[in-house]
Amino acid sequence: MSTTRELQDAIIKIKREKDICILAHAYQSQDILEVADYVGDSFGLSQKAAKAPQQTVLMCGVRFMAETVKVLAPEKKVLLSHPDADCPMARQFDVEEIKKLKEQYPGYGVVAYINTTTDLKTICDVCVTSASAVKIVRDMEQKNILFIPDCNLVAWVAKQVPEKNIQMIKGGCPVHASINGQEAKEAKEKHPGAQFLVHPECVADVTNQADFVGSTTAIIDYAKKSDCKEFIIGTENSIVQHLQFECPDKKFYALSKNLICTDMKLTTLADVYQCMLGNAGEEIMLTEEVRLAAKKSIDEMLRLG
Ligand code: 13P
Ligand code: SF4
Repeated sequence: MSTTRELQDAIIKIKREKDICILAHAYQSQDILEVADYVGDSFGLSQKAAKAPQQTVLMCGVRFMAETVKVLAPEKKVLLSHPDADCPMARQFDVEEIKKLKEQYPGYGVVAYINTTTDLKTICDVCVTSASAVKIVRDMEQKNILFIPDCNLVAWVAKQVPEKNIQMIKGGCPVHASINGQEAKEAKEKHPGAQFLVHPECVADVTNQADFVGSTTAIIDYAKKSDCKEFIIGTENSIVQHLQFECPDKKFYALSKNLICTDMKLTTLADVYQCMLGNAGEEIMLTEEVRLAAKKSIDEMLRLG
């Protein structure tokens, strides 16, 4: 095979023959999105995971996303297309640390961002994604909440749900949190007619300057529906490329050239192909004990979200 198109055709053929569903996070490259059965943010991917009719699910994203599929659909064969694709934020806490925090904050509802390991999900009350965090925290019965691991997401949620007492500890996305308020100010000065759309994993100095804050899917939807013609995109730079592709009559500018998630970028179209043939990737395995314990917090997210 010599062209992207030929490789994509081969993938689509194998997908049908082997009854495989390809799920892709919106940060994946355009050539992968084009062969996916569903593209979305973390919340959308979790919803699809539970419903996909195919027997095998191939996740193009990072490890916690594939593990979430396995938790929800244990009867399916779940493959992660690149075994090294992991979200560094997912490992910023371990189970022992959370157990100690729970002792320190008795009676607090424990919320875990979905960007956490499956082990961490086993000792939390509910998971949230960037798309569902505000609604879920607002609807939780507890007033006191311990929220791990992203302090920037927590700060953004806390601002919108002032009636809750939310305790944040440490942690965050190294990619989004690397951008500061000065860079946002400069981008806005450079493109005065543009709307500024930002992911809530960015620091408050950045989100406070935004016209819209939301998950990757929410940012895409906002830009598509808006009458505005120019946008500064404050999330992973693949979204700039995808939006430019989908809306050729609008202009999209990256907030920073450093907004690149190397883990999300690990997977290539060739990996997807080789994974389907059984030559690459990793099959996700979880013990039933861990799966069932983690499922409670993910089910609660799907129920409340
Ligand atoms: P979404 O919730 O928008 O999918 O974000 C996931 C993520 O990893 C962002 O960095
Ligand atoms: Fe994790 Fe940040 Fe990469 Fe998202 S962008 S997968 S939160 S490191």
